[in-house]
Amino acid sequence: MSIYLSGIQPSGLLHWGNYFGAIRQHVAAPAAGGEHFYFIADYHALTTSKNPAELREWVREVAVTYLAFGLDVERAVFFRQSDVPEVTELAWMLSCVTGMGVLERAVSYRDKVERGLQPSVGLFTYPALMSADILAYDSNFVPVGPDQQQHIEIAQDMAASFNALYGPVFVRPEPSISPFAKVPGLDGQKMSKSYGNHIWLFASGKELKKAVGRVVTDSRPPEEPKDPASVLLFDLLRLFLDDAELAEWKRRVQTGGAGAPGYGHLKQRLVEAAEAFFAPARARREELLRDPAEVDRVLARGAERARARARATRDRALAACGLR
Ligand code: ADP
Ligand code: TRP
Repeated sequence: MSIYLSGIQPSGLLHWGNYFGAIRQHVAAPAAGGEHFYFIADYHALTTSKNPAELREWVREVAVTYLAFGLDVERAVFFRQSDVPEVTELAWMLSCVTGMGVLERAVSYRDKVERGLQPSVGLFTYPALMSADILAYDSNFVPVGPDQQQHIEIAQDMAASFNALYGPVFVRPEPSISPFAKVPGLDGQKMSKSYGNHIWLFASGKELKKAVGRVVTDSRPPEEPKDPASVLLFDLLRLFLDDAELAEWKRRVQTGGAGAPGYGHLKQRLVEAAEAFFAPARARREELLRDPAEVDRVLARGAERARARARATRDRALAACGLR
C-alpha cells in the first residue's frame, strides 16, 4: 500500500507557485488510490511567525484553500500538525541519532541565515521535525517542490540511523517532485512570498490585473518576432491554457509582423484565464469562510485519524530505544 504525505506551512497567503507546485498534486492524488496524509505545518511556521493572530488566520487560510479546491477528506487525512504532538516526541528521538553535520548542511537553513534571519534552535532542528512528520505516518511518498528534496533525504538518513541502531521502526520515504517544479514570479525568479514576486491564488478583478501588470517584459515591439522562450509571460500562461491555445499564441509571437500580439494582449489573456481557472475555488472559499465550524470539524476528524497512526509509530520508537 502506498502512503503519501505532505505538509504546507501557514506562513502567508498562498500563491500560484504553492498551488501548481504543491496543492494541486495533493488534491488530485487521493483519487488514484493509496493512503494520503496532508497537513498544515503550524509547528514549523513557529520558526518564522511570532504573531498569534496572524498565525491563526493563516492556518485557517490553508485549511480553507485545500477544502476549496476539493480535497476529498474521506480519502485523505487532512489535519493540523500541532494536533499530533507525537511528532515532537519523534523529532526528539530522531535528533538523538543525528549528527550536527547533517543539519548544518541543510540548504534551506543556510539560505535563511544568509538572508539575515536570526536562527533559533527551532529553525536549526526544523528538518528533524519534518522527518518526524514524514516517518510518523509510515509514508513512502512525499510530494513536494524541489526545494524540499534535501529535507526528505535527511528524513531517509534519520530513519536509517535509527533503524540501524534499534531495528526496523521507520519506513524509508521517497521524494516525489512536482512536474511543475518551478512557477516563476513576476520578476522571473522562482515565485515565492519571500521574494515579494508572487500572485495570490485568489486574487481577482483589479487586484489580479494589477499583479499581472507587474510581470516583467521588455521593450521589444509586438511586430518584432520573438523566441517564445524569451517571454516570461508564456511560463505563466502555460499554467492555464490548453496546449493548442498556448501553441497558437506562441506561433503568433514567434512570427511577429502586423497583428502579432503584444505583451498587453498576453497579459490580458493571462488575467482572464487565471480569473476563470480559480473562480470555482474562490466561490467555495467564500462559503467556507462563512462556516468556520465546518472547517474545525474537518480538522478535528483529520487529527483523530492522524493521531492514531502517529501514536502507534511513537510507541514503536519508544519501545525500540528503551524508553518502554
Ligand atoms: P514560499 O517560497 O512562497 O515561501 P513555501 O516554501 O512555503 O513557499 O512552499 C510551499 C509549497 O509550495 C512547497 O511544497 C513548495 O515546493 C511549493 N512552491 C513554492 N513556491 C513554488 C514555485 N514558485 N513553484 C513551484 N512550487 C512552489
Ligand atoms: N517544510 C515544508 C515546506 O516548507 C513543509 C513541511 C513540513 C513538510 N513537514 C513536512 C512537507 C513533511 C512534506 C513533508 O514546504
